Amino acid sequence: MKRILSGIQPSGALHLGNYLGMMQPSVELQHKGEALYFIADLHSLTSLHDAEALRRYSRDVALDFLACGLDPERAFLFRQSDIAKIPLLSWILSSVTPMGLLERCHSYKDKIARGIAPSHALFSYPVLMAADILIYDSDIVPVGKDQKQHLEVTRDIAVKMNETFGEILKLPTPSIREEAANVPGTDGAKMSKSYGNTIEIFAEEKAMKKKIMSMVTDSTPVEEAKDPEESSIYQLYKLFAGKNEALTMAEKYRAGGTGYGDFKKQLFATVWEYFAPMRHKRAELELDTDYVDDILQRGAEHANQLAEAVMTRVESAVGLRR
Ligand code: ADP
Ligand code: TRP
Repeated sequence: MKRILSGIQPSGALHLGNYLGMMQPSVELQHKGEALYFIADLHSLTSLHDAEALRRYSRDVALDFLACGLDPERAFLFRQSDIAKIPLLSWILSSVTPMGLLERCHSYKDKIARGIAPSHALFSYPVLMAADILIYDSDIVPVGKDQKQHLEVTRDIAVKMNETFGEILKLPTPSIREEAANVPGTDGAKMSKSYGNTIEIFAEEKAMKKKIMSMVTDSTPVEEAKDPEESSIYQLYKLFAGKNEALTMAEKYRAGGTGYGDFKKQLFATVWEYFAPMRHKRAELELDTDYVDDILQRGAEHANQLAEAVMTRVESAVGLRR
């Protein structure tokens, strides 16, 4: 059976891009193998230094993931920081990781360009991510497209480890959903917490409506024909609506006579309805913190067991134990 693994940082409220690029594919994959999903709280420390916020976001990610369909009977959910051997593996991996490999990473450069402090942890972030993946002998890693390079780095590090110490690590394969590779935000650029252009999946009704109604459009007059593929309203709509509804909207774009305001209203109604059962589930889960804590604890126990098996191999191969 294939082992599927992914993680998400608890560094803010989750948005439609996170949902379509990572959570929804992860939830679908839980039926296809042994799934392990975690809250990457150690990674969040690279950009978040507020204990209360980190605790709150970590809890929120657990609730969001469970509300969005992570089935604790099928998948394990846990906190990265509960897996004791991850920092150890990360250190061992860093001993074979060439500086040049990390210097080439876009994400480090992008993040410092956006004002995140260029700390050592931010620079070595991909090594920690490699440890997250390699420690469970993971086969498949569902992520959004922006994480592709990190998966390549992970494979390079695994190859280097195997060359240096013998065949001890398994090479993972990324799983990237092409149609949701670059979910657009309210300004048309890639939706991202750091660009302030997100639509949060569990926003209040008024707030979500306001965000969607504020989406940037061109100035084509109402009566003129519009190209749906050029419009982020349509791009989002087709990811949530049924096939026929999407076709109908595309026809309306091409026919002219409908303004962007009407398309936005349809988008809002569809997204709001899409998440209705999940909102309901989330409200229930919020009242049952013991249940959520229990899931996280069970997940951590299982993940630690898997990690221990790989670490026995690794620690022996490098000479840290017999
Ligand atoms: P953000 O850019 O908002 O900080 P993260 O980097 O925490 O998001 O991403 C968490 C997961 O969601 C990753 O797997 C990432 O690839 C995916 N993701 C984030 N934004 C998008 C988007 N706009 N389109 C598709 N996937 C996305
Ligand atoms: N770097 C990922 C992100 O920002 C989160 C992450 C950390 C991750 N470790 C991982 C994703 C391991 C997949 C596998 O979204």
